Amino acid sequence: MSGPGQRTQVGIIGGGPAGLLLSQLLHRAGIDSVVLERASRAHCEERVRAGVLEPGSVEVLEAAGVGERLRREGLVHHGIDLCFAGARHRIALTDLTGRSITVYAQQEVVKDLIRARLDAGADVRFEVEDVRIEGLEDPASTIRFRHAGAAGVLECDWIAGCDGSHGASRAAIPAGGVTEYARSCPFAWLGILAAAAPTASELVYARHERGFALYSMRSPEVTRLYLQCRPDEDLAAWSDARIWDELHGRLESDDGWRIREGAIVQRSVTPLRSFVIEPMRFGRLFLAGDAAHVVPPTGAKGLNLAIHDVRVLAEALIAAYAGDARALDQYSARCLARVWRAERFSWWMTAMLHRDERDDEFGRRLQLAQLEEVAHSRAAAQSLAENYVGACLTA
Ligand code: PHB
Repeated sequence: MSGPGQRTQVGIIGGGPAGLLLSQLLHRAGIDSVVLERASRAHCEERVRAGVLEPGSVEVLEAAGVGERLRREGLVHHGIDLCFAGARHRIALTDLTGRSITVYAQQEVVKDLIRARLDAGADVRFEVEDVRIEGLEDPASTIRFRHAGAAGVLECDWIAGCDGSHGASRAAIPAGGVTEYARSCPFAWLGILAAAAPTASELVYARHERGFALYSMRSPEVTRLYLQCRPDEDLAAWSDARIWDELHGRLESDDGWRIREGAIVQRSVTPLRSFVIEPMRFGRLFLAGDAAHVVPPTGAKGLNLAIHDVRVLAEALIAAYAGDARALDQYSARCLARVWRAERFSWWMTAMLHRDERDDEFGRRLQLAQLEEVAHSRAAAQSLAENYVGACLTA
């Protein structure tokens, strides 16, 4: 199958949640695609990432036919806690918005999608190298690549760039073809997965003098935890004991809540950053997910934005093949409205909860005043809740 000259309707670069979901949604509408992924299948299925799904994202996954295990194993949460000055304050998401979130790991979404695609006989290729895109402004575009030791050529009507912020899709856009808006944060997160039963039933976002910490979970047996650290942090400097010390110190509250330790089965450092590419299209190439925008993870928006992009793109491609190309012209604007709302929310959550060494004592007092307002004003809590569950993010 990797010989030269193959044709498909939509060439999809990237086999993460965005690329696989797009392929699945198009397939259900009778549109043919090929997915090209750089990593191995095992790597895609094991890569530990985000874990919070908005209700709108769950609906899209269900409509794509991959909601069955998610419904069975996903943990439905009706609130989150904010912890500061030693006390936990619950933000009652469901009371405030009528909606709930589902905690279900991104790599489980990926596993479900890969299985669904392969069961349907889809052309999904892993370990694809040297991807190059040509003819983005021509009537048809070409993707050249290497797979299983041979050169491949794929002719496509359209190309979806779902290969993240460092992928070949972004790199294929000529200088000046799009504009990038970026803001870096001087923070990173050290994340761990621990074989420990969670001791809280909802997520805890903690603002502490020693830095931010987040308590999350994956299942009744596995806890997911994060600590704010420096972007250039050396993981080797963090022994298990030091990680647990920091987590105890930053998360535990005066009401006696304690976290439970367990074997650390995975650890990584992720820098926080924000960027948006405008427009999310260049010629025949449509960017979706992290290839088009990145948010700091504090608002749990990255995966949800990717799912929204793909829903809009699938609808637009389906309309275009039915003879109406206008939706493709509106793709970027429809996505960007939501993207900028999520950028604003993620930036605000990050600023409210992290320790910024550049800040003075006045800034730290403002941060606490903001947290007090969210904890005690229903209007402020509702604004956070609507953003968190994705209720006020227009399509
Ligand atoms: C996670 O469970 O991995 C998680 C949860 C909430 C966030 C970020 C990550 O804001």
